[in-house]
Amino acid sequence: MDIKLRQLGESDIHITPLGLGCWQFSNRIGFAGKFWPSLEEVPSDEIIKVSWEGGINWFDTAEMYGWGASEKCVSHGLQKINAPIESTIIATKWHPIARRASRMLRSIEEQIQRLAPYKISLYQIHSPTSLSSIKTEMEVMADLLKAGIIRSAGVSNYSARQMRNAHAHLEKLGFPLVSNQVHYSLLNRKIERNGILKTAQELGMTIIAYSPLEQGLLTGKFHENPSLIKTRVGWRKYFPLYRPSGLERTKPVIDTLKKIAERYGATPAQVALNWLIHFHGERVVAIPGATRKEQALQNLGTFKFHISEAEMDEIDKVSRKFI
Ligand SMILES: NC(=O)c1ccc[n+]([C@@H]2O[C@H](COP(=O)([O-])OP(=O)(O)OC[C@H]3O[C@@H](n4cnc5c(N)ncnc54)[C@H](OP(=O)(O)O)[C@@H]3O)[C@@H](O)[C@H]2O)c1
Repeated sequence: MDIKLRQLGESDIHITPLGLGCWQFSNRIGFAGKFWPSLEEVPSDEIIKVSWEGGINWFDTAEMYGWGASEKCVSHGLQKINAPIESTIIATKWHPIARRASRMLRSIEEQIQRLAPYKISLYQIHSPTSLSSIKTEMEVMADLLKAGIIRSAGVSNYSARQMRNAHAHLEKLGFPLVSNQVHYSLLNRKIERNGILKTAQELGMTIIAYSPLEQGLLTGKFHENPSLIKTRVGWRKYFPLYRPSGLERTKPVIDTLKKIAERYGATPAQVALNWLIHFHGERVVAIPGATRKEQALQNLGTFKFHISEAEMDEIDKVSRKFI
């Protein structure tokens, strides 16, 4: 499939509008890792294979996803299919909580080993919470960029003010801040209200939308069969949107996605992703995760069609209460 690539921020890196989210490969290690089943149940190699073969050219992982388990899976899965080193883009993250920026140097050495032979194309600060200032973190990022250890620098979960701060410091050191990875889906559109999207557009940064399917809710499967929610291992079941009142509140969005999906012989998830990567233009990309290869395959089907302007507006209208 011929998928039009998009520039990552102001970098020389070009990515597919969807990447593969790899938190799912955490093997239940660490607090965040408990959100998904173990690797015995999540076939990471297969998910990576179908994603790569379907045209996806980038993979989003993090140090804290199973404290290295996910990074190892990404490298393993890609090596198994001989994905070329030069054109495979790896986005990973440094975990800053209760750490100083100087710790980044030790983390990245370990991350490079786990991801080898693949290189880190995008290195992201996972959250703004750190013992160091944003300025100090950006100084370390600039050193990594200068040394050619990473190709580009980004952040995650940063507010509009923090984005500006980080962008300004890195710019002074001669590099662009290319992305902010944030929660963004049709059921969580806060970045349109709190200035994050506007700031990204203004600074030429890419928004990487995480949880773009609201962790499965936008597929419609939990609305169709709410008893499925209890079967999921993580704490999704305790989230307000997953309660009966949440299902009721989100139902009009799901119904609209279903109606539009029927026109294209598509699924609600594909329509939801379609909206996300087109409504605000090329600056928004998304990284749906998958626990089975069929899900990854289905999500790839997003590239087979393009919903119309009128359909985008209809979806916009019905999901405005989530802004
Ligand atoms: N930077 C951050 O702080 C941060 C935070 C969260 C996520 N992320 C990144 O974003 C990625 C994606 O976010 P996410 O995993 O939270 O949410 P998501 O992509 O919205 O949802 C992924 C989950 O939805 C279900 N699913 C996906 N496609 C499906 C399909 N076609 N049909 C049925 N079910 C489907 C699967 O769960 P089940 O099969 O279990 O139902 C899957 O694990 C992560 O992998 C990670 O790389 C980053």
